[in-house]
Amino acid sequence: MDVQASQSDFILQVEHLSMKFGGLVAIGDLSFQARRGEITALIGPNGAGKTTVFNCITGFYKPTEGMITLNKRDGSTYLLERLPNHEIPARANVARTFQNIRLFSGMTLLENLLVAQHNKLMKASGYTFLGLFGFPSYRQASAESIELARHWLEKADLVDRADDPAGDLPYGAQRRLEIARAMCTGPELLCLDEPAAGLNPKESASLNQLLNDIKNNTGTSILLIEHDMSVVMQISDHVVVLEYGRKISDGNPQSVRTDPRVIAAYLGVDDEEVETVLTEVGDEDVIEQLDTGPDSAHGPGNSASMMAGPVSDSVEHADEGERVTVSKGASKAAQVDARAASVASKPTAAAKPAAKRSTAKAAPKKMAAKAPAAKAPAAKAGGASKGKEASAKPAADKRGGRK
Ligand SMILES: Nc1ncnc2c1ncn2[C@@H]1O[C@H](COP(=O)(O)OP(=O)(O)O)[C@@H](O)[C@H]1O
Ligand SMILES: [Mg+2]
Repeated sequence: MDVQASQSDFILQVEHLSMKFGGLVAIGDLSFQARRGEITALIGPNGAGKTTVFNCITGFYKPTEGMITLNKRDGSTYLLERLPNHEIPARANVARTFQNIRLFSGMTLLENLLVAQHNKLMKASGYTFLGLFGFPSYRQASAESIELARHWLEKADLVDRADDPAGDLPYGAQRRLEIARAMCTGPELLCLDEPAAGLNPKESASLNQLLNDIKNNTGTSILLIEHDMSVVMQISDHVVVLEYGRKISDGNPQSVRTDPRVIAAYLGVDDEEVETVLTEVGDEDVIEQLDTGPDSAHGPGNSASMMAGPVSDSVEHADEGERVTVSKGASKAAQVDARAASVASKPTAAAKPAAKRSTAKAAPKKMAAKAPAAKAPAAKAGGASKGKEASAKPAADKRGGRK
């Protein structure tokens, strides 16, 4: 985290966010920030908790714990977890798309974009029948809405199909239409849940172009969940990696893709093979990191991540007397950290075989190949834990004093 940056540099600040479903910790003590005007990617294997984070930000879920702060350009600040659901898009200007496309498939493209501007049109009609009588304020608002819809149809390269039913479009075009629809609401933060899912390379390239256009020309900041590494690595400014609801890495795309925790989480190898695979796929930086021990930014005691430390992780909530344990083997990232810690504690760092160096730079490719075939979801609750348990602070300590 950049300590020089002021709060207003960040469009979104997520602090100590937790979301539990019964005994399952879908998100555990997650903290990260998204900088204004940037594309921040949230990645991780299936079931890591990415969509749950979006659902907490956009008001679909109320988090069990934590704070989500949105700082608008005009200086106003909103605590999203306290805002009524319908005010999150309307007042905080947060828009989202869904993992499964949700368009009005029987309506035309233009109609889909006009429905998104329903609030504006209702206001112009004075919430009465003024629209029917062609009242001037309504006529003007209506013309502006059509103009805005046309603008975004052009940006999404869909203007030729404005009068076709949305359901007739190919997948890639439907994804772009969803983004165009979200942009018609004038969001400050646009949350996109796997927009490249199911797209071919050409469609992915069009999507990248649209997202870059939004970033460069609108001032809208983007939070992106994505499995397609070609999209993540090409367009993201900042990447946050989740595994089992915890943050295991946070940084620029280059640093994240050479992070051993991330490689292990994505490869999903057997416990005994973690070391071998890291050695095979790692480049010099990865090997170096293994030799010098865990990154202090992800170590125990730093609330930003709880993945480092002992192989058995647990979250303890003193106020509720609840304890959820992630058993050995649940997290590859935890094993990487445990392995790094044990290597670091040896008196002399053992020389690595020469073969390792010859496979340098292989990591990103493997990661890309494995990304879609992610691991089984759901952290194992209540699994065997032998001693060493890192207790989380009680909720009251973490919440800070803001209202
Ligand atoms: N409404 C819900 N009720 C119960 N469990 C849920 C719910 N939503 C998500 N989960 C669980 O939370 C975990 C994270 O899910 P999700 O956020 O969808 O993961 P991702 O988007 O990273 O694939 C999963 O184990 C999932 O089963
Ligand atoms: Mg998801």
